[in-house]
Amino acid sequence: MLSSAAEAPNRAPDPPGGETISYAQVATATSNWELLEVRPISPGTERIVSFANQKGGVGKTTTSVNLAAALALRGHRVLVVDVDPQSNATTGLGIDHRGLEASTYDVIVNGASADDVIRPTGIKGLDCLPSSPDLAGAEIELVEVAARERRLAEALDGSLSGYDVVFLDCPPSLGLLTVNALAAAHDLIVPVQCEYYALEGLGQLMGTAERVQAGLNGELRIAGFVLTMYDARTRLSSQVADEVRRHFGDSVFGTVVPRSVRLSEAPSFGEPVLTLDPSSRGALSYRLLASEFESRFELATHVPAPPPSKAGPAHEEPAVKTATPGPEGRGYGVIAPPPGDLESAWPREQPWSKR
Ligand SMILES: Nc1ncnc2c1ncn2[C@@H]1O[C@H](COP(=O)(O)OP(=O)(O)O)[C@@H](O)[C@H]1O
Ligand SMILES: [Mg+2]
Repeated sequence: MLSSAAEAPNRAPDPPGGETISYAQVATATSNWELLEVRPISPGTERIVSFANQKGGVGKTTTSVNLAAALALRGHRVLVVDVDPQSNATTGLGIDHRGLEASTYDVIVNGASADDVIRPTGIKGLDCLPSSPDLAGAEIELVEVAARERRLAEALDGSLSGYDVVFLDCPPSLGLLTVNALAAAHDLIVPVQCEYYALEGLGQLMGTAERVQAGLNGELRIAGFVLTMYDARTRLSSQVADEVRRHFGDSVFGTVVPRSVRLSEAPSFGEPVLTLDPSSRGALSYRLLASEFESRFELATHVPAPPPSKAGPAHEEPAVKTATPGPEGRGYGVIAPPPGDLESAWPREQPWSKR
């Protein structure tokens, strides 16, 4: 019990079970970091960003896939490296891991060339280095291998020419795969779900990142925190968002990703929501996040016209939308309209608008 109501009068209510979220510990863990250091990407060099949080289900994959798609649709060349044996980023981008000859596993364990494994996706400018379930064995198989924490960094070094941004989608643990991703990255972005226990465990994540920075990758920086699954109908979401901002200030991205049915449906179509339903709230939030990402990283912007909306003009919300097929032939079907009360799920007062 590190924090108390007296120290943090505005903190989110105690989670059920009487445990207190140790915000003070998190704040101490992050105080050593120079948060939000602006390091523009030099032309011709890719920026490698890890999306990590050892908690599962906080939006790492959803954020890496949809932010990547949004950046690609804005004209950037983007690669998503799936570092999770669950392969959710791979399937979410329309690649069936069952038919793969090689995957992240071969790159990390067998020394395969990343170039040979990278696959295009259905979105121009967006490629994927797909993962497969055998990646789960990598942690054990690499036990005896020298420099096992830098396998991914070494594999990616020199094979990424042509990309502006490379996203590494981490598994929900702080094991060897996440350490490999942090050792290979310039920046760490932490998706934080607007839920109970939102900050729990962040101290450990910061500690791991700090050890990686000290021992393996002096370039690693924390580039920010992204609030996900914000539900404006609950006071809890806004309390958690306030609490995260109070502790991490400007390092929290101004864009808040709302809880959205479309975002959770998109993976089953093998397509990011950006192309599946460009006018949905989820797609809008990731486009906003992409423009914020561009300005934070000073990515040169060359913004093409928005993709034609399969769902009609943005201001119209047709009652029923028919999805087009995903890249692997999936995606036939009808998407039910969101329940009416989800109208209120988008935060009306976006924090950045107050600045
Ligand atoms: N903003 C959101 N609104 C609704 N569902 C979401 C949202 N973000 C993620 N999800 C869903 O929550 C689940 C966990 O998200 P995911 O991105 O896979 O988390 P992680 O990669 O951190 O484990 C998935 O089923 C995903 O579709
Ligand atoms: Mg994931």
